[in-house]
Amino acid sequence: MSSIANQPNDGSEAVSSMENLLDHEYDGIREYDNPVPGWWHLLFWGSVVFGALYYFFFTFSPVSWTVQDRWERAQAAAYQRVFGELGELKPDAQTMQELMHNPQMMAVAKGMFATNCAQCHAKDGGGINGVNLTDNSYKNVRKLDDIITVLNKGANNGAMPAWETRMSQNERILLAAYAASLRGSVPAAPKAPEGTEIPPWPEFVPAAKKE
Ligand code: HEC
Repeated sequence: MSSIANQPNDGSEAVSSMENLLDHEYDGIREYDNPVPGWWHLLFWGSVVFGALYYFFFTFSPVSWTVQDRWERAQAAAYQRVFGELGELKPDAQTMQELMHNPQMMAVAKGMFATNCAQCHAKDGGGINGVNLTDNSYKNVRKLDDIITVLNKGANNGAMPAWETRMSQNERILLAAYAASLRGSVPAAPKAPEGTEIPPWPEFVPAAKKE
């Protein structure tokens, strides 16, 4: 009797404990029927059901979302806030230069470039299928605001896609400014220059000082 390990010390439940002893006996050691508590079962089966629902929802449901979706939604909201502050941008060289000298706007543009342009031009503008945007040679650009036209209409029969219908005007102007700002930077793996070498961008005079 004293060999029953789980028996309470005070002997109060000794009788019922004996009832919980199972028939199995191995070299004198007997098995005590000690079921896991109800809350444990609840947690266990709860996790199993939750896991299955989670898997099916996030793997197959058309209304589920990914971390990337949430990131993109947050990014879009952030752009909207930033663009709201900008108002309607003018598609001209002065506006582009104002943006090029605005570190906050260039930081926003960097993210947009990585999402939309880097697959062809590389993250640092060095060029992959798309041309190198960091050198002084251009195929379709002779002056700063030509870049806006290239973005709007595309180039080389769509090898460079047209973005007019895919992005707002503000986004296109901002990305044009970012593309221009890459000129003169040093990419990791630059593609050979293509096109014609063009003069440097005009010197920047902030609009506030022009009057
Ligand atoms: C599908 C690939 C692709 C994507 C995406 C792409 N480009 Fe291009 N881009 C090209 C190609 C190819 C050219 C060269 C066109 C040509 O040969 O005239 C080019 C040309 C350009 C030029 C003109 C360079 C020059 O020498 O005339 C600029 C500026 C430019 N891209 C900026 C961008 C920006 C900004 C984005 C993102 C909004 C972007 N590109 C997305 C492929 C792409």
